[in-house]
Amino acid sequence: MSQDTMIPTVDPMLPPKQDWAGNLAALDHTVIKVPDLVEGADWYNRFLGLTVADRRGGIAYLASPVSGQIVLGLAEGGTGLDYMSFRVHEGDGLDRLAHRMKSAGVAYDDSADRTRPDTERALRLTLPEGQTKQIMQAAPRDKPSTRGLTPGALDIRTSHLQLRTPDVMGLSRFVQDALGFRVTNYVPTPDGDNHMIQFTRINDYHHQLAILAGKPGLHHVALSMDKDDFFAFLTHIEREHIPVEYGPGRHYEVRSLFAYVRDPFGNRIEVAGPMAYVGHDYTPSTVEHEHWYHMNMWGPAPPKTWFEEWT
Ligand SMILES: [Fe+2]
Repeated sequence: MSQDTMIPTVDPMLPPKQDWAGNLAALDHTVIKVPDLVEGADWYNRFLGLTVADRRGGIAYLASPVSGQIVLGLAEGGTGLDYMSFRVHEGDGLDRLAHRMKSAGVAYDDSADRTRPDTERALRLTLPEGQTKQIMQAAPRDKPSTRGLTPGALDIRTSHLQLRTPDVMGLSRFVQDALGFRVTNYVPTPDGDNHMIQFTRINDYHHQLAILAGKPGLHHVALSMDKDDFFAFLTHIEREHIPVEYGPGRHYEVRSLFAYVRDPFGNRIEVAGPMAYVGHDYTPSTVEHEHWYHMNMWGPAPPKTWFEEWT
């Protein structure tokens, strides 16, 4: 059986086929920095139809125009990652993670006052490379809001983010030990002693956190949508004269359609289609094929900027 038939792509709106064994459920939202909040919110509205759902703590929280769920936040000042927030399953997941972090000697603090609305509790920790991560327990979501729904609006969801660090193995071990991430795919260094890339997951889908070698920073935040919306999105940016940096294309391991777009400030957003379902018991494996095919089965390889620039 080929790898193509072993990893199906399924609709992310379908419930998981099994209960995930870890405490974290999904990437809830990511907050990135922009030099100007008003200009940033305007651009993200024009780009994806995201609307400002709330402003608190100097952050504008942006929601999907279809579901009303917050998927992205903008913090004023600079560029790059402000924080990433992962949601726990309902129940005692937050307490169990707090216990796990305490046992691993990881410092954290209570930060429910600096997160999106409808959050019951939140813990905040700093990763070894200095990025801020938040683990949150959210109140159950109400029914999707259709208030102000614009016909043709895109159903934007959270997907994953990619961090760069000089110590891929170190950061990966940290998120595995302290938070229960699992490795999906990796690329060993030529000497075989280290890894250049790791794709790690907290649920049944291919990855929610990708870790690549490089100076510490945020390479991209990915937002996803279903396949039909992806093609509507391409038509939309065509009309808006918003250029892509790389794509449209289709990743090999992840199986998702993708297009990378830089915002006016330099932050990179990946707009993606549904991601491959790998399940809880997927065994870590090396990525396959030539680099260009791994990145984009339709070719070509990413441009120089994709390798050399991030925030
Ligand atoms: Fe990505």
